[in-house]
Amino acid sequence: MAQRRFLVTAALPYSNGRLHVGHIAGAYLPADTYVRYLRATGAEVRFICGSDDNGVAALKTARENGCPVEELTARFNQLQQADFAGLKIEFDIFGGTHQPGFVETHERISQDFFQQIYQKDFFTKRSVKQLYDAEADQFLPDRFVRGTCPHCQSDKAFGDQCEGCGRTLDQVSLINPVSVMTETTPELRETIHWYLRLDRMQKPLAEWLASKRDDGQDDTSWRPVVLNQSLGRIEAEGLPERAMTRDLTWGVPVPLDDPDAKGKSLYVWFDAPIGYVSFTAALCGEGPGGVDRWWKDPECKVVHFIGEDNIVFHAITWPAMMLATHDSESVQGEPGEYQLPHNVVANSFMNIKFPGKDEEKISKSRGNAVWIEDYLKDFDPDPLRYYLTAVAPESARTAFDFDDFLARNNGELVNAFGNFYNRTMTFAHKYFEGKVPATGSRSDEDTQQLERCKEAVNQTGHELDGCHFKAALTAVMGLARAGNGYFDATKPFLSRKTDMEACGRAINICLQTARTLSTIIAPFLPGTADRCAKMLNLGEDYRTWALATDELTAGHVLGQPEILIKKLEPAEIFAD
Ligand code: 2FM
Ligand code: ZN
Repeated sequence: MAQRRFLVTAALPYSNGRLHVGHIAGAYLPADTYVRYLRATGAEVRFICGSDDNGVAALKTARENGCPVEELTARFNQLQQADFAGLKIEFDIFGGTHQPGFVETHERISQDFFQQIYQKDFFTKRSVKQLYDAEADQFLPDRFVRGTCPHCQSDKAFGDQCEGCGRTLDQVSLINPVSVMTETTPELRETIHWYLRLDRMQKPLAEWLASKRDDGQDDTSWRPVVLNQSLGRIEAEGLPERAMTRDLTWGVPVPLDDPDAKGKSLYVWFDAPIGYVSFTAALCGEGPGGVDRWWKDPECKVVHFIGEDNIVFHAITWPAMMLATHDSESVQGEPGEYQLPHNVVANSFMNIKFPGKDEEKISKSRGNAVWIEDYLKDFDPDPLRYYLTAVAPESARTAFDFDDFLARNNGELVNAFGNFYNRTMTFAHKYFEGKVPATGSRSDEDTQQLERCKEAVNQTGHELDGCHFKAALTAVMGLARAGNGYFDATKPFLSRKTDMEACGRAINICLQTARTLSTIIAPFLPGTADRCAKMLNLGEDYRTWALATDELTAGHVLGQPEILIKKLEPAEIFAD
């Protein structure tokens, strides 16, 4: 069978702040888990991310902090990389749309993309009225203007998107718009922009999205939240054309030889997804062995991991941009054309619940987030990786609850997983000289437990293939619990006094179970898995999925037992 090939991306974070648990739970942790799993199955994978430097987000923060925007984005690009590294979220490349070493290629590829769409006549040049701040003497694109959402009445609506209902907005539809520059009411002035003819792509896009509905046939269906926000929105409201240029100079210059394009840049949501491609180019090169092999070959599956506020851009705008470059009638694209994503995996947001307080939304401005930087000062990455997967907001909002974090670490990871390893290793060292005891003649109970190992490997793999991370982790923990159940049922603590052969048989089975666990926990908790493998004295290939139930041979020398997962004390968690 040919080697499977995947290009996995995680949403490019805006380089105007540090990362908190909501960001990690939303896109980055599931993406990293998926990539680790795919690699364990022998797939060829490239994992792409980088900072989203252009547009209003960084410009606004730079202005608030009184520092040059290049300096701000360079600093947060580095700090975010430190947050990711601390959590063992390991990209093959972390670029940045305006970072030295990336910006030239990014601008060239983005401009080329724009030109291709322009040549194919998918832009309309329009003279339109836009909001203008007379005091600041500038137009107010995107987040430079706020107001009330015309759809849901939330007052958290900005010029491009409403944070209340997630809808993309036309800024002139905002009720009571206010300039965030000067807090004045903007006026309407005439300007010129290039609009992407999404209306012309409505039919093929809707058909393509409809093909991603769950037909019960395979694991390639998309999550309902992604289809509701994309296909559901198209069915309800149709697809209006959208401006892909802005009156801004911080960004990719509009590549047209037209005096009306002067002083304008591409909309940040036009160039940001192209960042996935330009960072691939930086990693793998351009042309047949590089970008084309990862983006324009039907054999390679592109999978985007994002938060729910990014759904429309990844499931509609970005595919439409790729579609607009195609020569062919085929929606998915012929070989040599950009391939539309195989999956767009989105999580909802994560709320936060402090002890003794009500659950609330994570808000940077109100300072009620759990920042990765702070977490890493006190803790290993794995308790957080475990918790954020166990309570992942895969189908609805969930909350980071401090009490629950503690309870799950101590009650699930330590009690079920850690305890199983600990008791198995202690026995093997105390009574069998630190070696795998003889297999002996296996009972039904023994073979059933080995069967459970096989089932857990299959179930975990099946769930991970379908991007059901919570369910996959449940399958892993189910095997750890079954290991404890087997230990309790076979009672080696009694048989060691009366029947050493039976005792050895039971410990052999426990060690086989521990061996399987080391492989299937690895995508979720890489540090813990490494300690498991060291204790079992396994080779470098211990993560290989196909070897997960290969048995340790009798006499195999084990490593030294060590504490696998630390119990956390409430005082540590709640310390400020
Ligand atoms: O929402 C965000 O944080 C955006 N910066 C995500 C961009 S994803 C992509 F398209 F690059
Ligand atoms: Zn709204």
